[in-house]
Amino acid sequence: MLKTLSIATLSLALLPALALASDAGTLKQGEKLYKTACIACHSTGAANAPKLGNKQAWAPILARGMDEIMTVATNGKGAMPARGGTKADDAALRAAVEYMVSRVQ
Ligand code: HEC
Repeated sequence: MLKTLSIATLSLALLPALALASDAGTLKQGEKLYKTACIACHSTGAANAPKLGNKQAWAPILARGMDEIMTVATNGKGAMPARGGTKADDAALRAAVEYMVSRVQ
């Protein structure tokens, strides 16, 4: 993924938005998708996947901001398959990512 400077800057500007708590329903939905589709790699750190709950692994990811994280989650990167290898729609995928992010805050 090519990143333009403006997108990087925008992501940084949006960083405080990460601190916003997601509502419980969204997190619950996200946890469900995580447990069916993402857990295989993200609970073990397979292929260098950032492990759920590992603040050290997630810190540099969170620093890039939610927009960039969603771009990677949607399109994939390295061993991370696009949408985690699922057919999840944008809202469901985002819920799973928000669940993962909530575990390192
Ligand atoms: C086949 C293994 C695998 C599966 C399944 C998988 N991931 Fe990943 N994921 C990875 C790997 C590997 C990385 C690290 C990619 C890198 O930085 O090179 C990653 C990175 C991420 C990141 C960090 C993105 C960033 O900005 O660096 C998020 C968020 C993520 N995955 C979400 C998910 C979600 C949500 C699911 C389930 C819907 C999922 N992943 C399923 C392997 C997987």
